Amino acid sequence: MKKTSVYIETFGCQMNVADTERASTGLRRAGYELTGEAEEADVVLLNTCSIRARAEAKVYSRVGEVKHKGRRSGQLIGVMGCVAQLEGEAVFDHAPSVGLVAGTQATDRLPALIERARAGEKKVLDLGEREAGEIWEVSPVERHSPYVAFVPIIEGCNKFCSYCIVPFSRGRERSRPAAEVIDEVKRLKDAGFSEVHLLGQNVNSYRPRPPVGLENFDGATPFSKLLRAVAATGMERIKFTTSFPRDFHHDIVAAIDENPNLCNWVHLPAQSGNDRVLRQMRRGHKVADYLERIRTIKNARRRIALTSDMIVGFPGETAEEVMDTVSLVEQCQYDSLYIFKYSPRARTPAAAMSDTISEEEKTERFERVEEAQKRIQKTLYSSYLGEVVNVLVERRSTRSELDLMGHSTCHKIVNFRGSDALIGRTVDVRITEVKSNSLYGEAAQSLLKAFC
Ligand code: 5AD
Ligand code: SF4
Repeated sequence: MKKTSVYIETFGCQMNVADTERASTGLRRAGYELTGEAEEADVVLLNTCSIRARAEAKVYSRVGEVKHKGRRSGQLIGVMGCVAQLEGEAVFDHAPSVGLVAGTQATDRLPALIERARAGEKKVLDLGEREAGEIWEVSPVERHSPYVAFVPIIEGCNKFCSYCIVPFSRGRERSRPAAEVIDEVKRLKDAGFSEVHLLGQNVNSYRPRPPVGLENFDGATPFSKLLRAVAATGMERIKFTTSFPRDFHHDIVAAIDENPNLCNWVHLPAQSGNDRVLRQMRRGHKVADYLERIRTIKNARRRIALTSDMIVGFPGETAEEVMDTVSLVEQCQYDSLYIFKYSPRARTPAAAMSDTISEEEKTERFERVEEAQKRIQKTLYSSYLGEVVNVLVERRSTRSELDLMGHSTCHKIVNFRGSDALIGRTVDVRITEVKSNSLYGEAAQSLLKAFC
């Protein structure tokens, strides 16, 4: 009998990519076939994001497109992920062609939910919590890359920053058992993966109960113990994201100093450079606390690349307060920065504050911060000229057939000339040219050959 085919499209953050991998693992195990073609699939699942209004709007336009183009009669369209969790039943009202809504903790139950919908049940809905025995570990064939693996270590968020929907869409923090994380990384290493990304909305809050698996490792916090334990697996490159300033302990930098395979990159969102705005955002840190963390990172033995997120146009933010954000950007000298215009999210405390800042003003503020970052980034990237960075080669460049593309340990995009044989390998690359968001160089090996 022909297997039922499922197509999953992923929106949003790395956690959603990891959830799609988990869902695919469970579906294939249950006898479904995964396909890359939406039009031909029996089931189309949209794994959605709701961090800002625009991300959410995309879901409904995409449902319309899928419905219009689908060539399978009786094609089932399902919405999973953050929009599903938040909107629940209302998704069916907004988009009557949707037959299945599965929340962020229902990924493991998808096979049974799809079965119910295909058996004729209308409006199948699951917003329940994860169950014991859930799948954490992803089968290698479902990984988004054969070289880089995402390993979730903690789900959910307890911080409740006043603008953020994540604590509602992903629920309270749940840490994954340490022994399981360590075993997974060991298996990934044996399977030939060169890099892992330890994932969580706030990795610094990692607190597994019971704390089994970390007894033999030093560390001021469970997360820094976990970093040392994962480093001890011998995995070639280890990155982690996202860090939260208040919980970012200096011992994390000590762990990076001690272990060359803990990569020299930290993503530490600041969100604003003004104390009043930070208080309104309920971030639980002041600018001075943030700068203290930055000093520790900048004083590390290796040069650690630093990236951040900033929000402009938070309710009540004044034109002067934006300049404090610009000033923080200048002080921190970020390697790159994600800037967002504030987007009110229903149910969050900030949505009840009067949002008097016009779209034009938000755009202007965005551009002010962006202009500062561009200037800084240009100088910062130029400082890499002549330096050698280690690159994990992921694929051919989309811009030039002759070039390869990969990420450095400091998480920069690096392009260089080379053959397919280098894909999947780690290569030392000497930087010869600087672009606005990437570096260009030549493989140190070929440099050596040229000189021999
Ligand atoms: N509006 C704009 N940006 C937001 N972010 C989170 N919530 C909102 C919102 N309501 C940004 C934060 C966070 C990143 C993932 O998205 O900067 O760090
Ligand atoms: Fe959202 Fe704040 Fe949690 Fe980050 S720490 S996911 S911004 S609530």
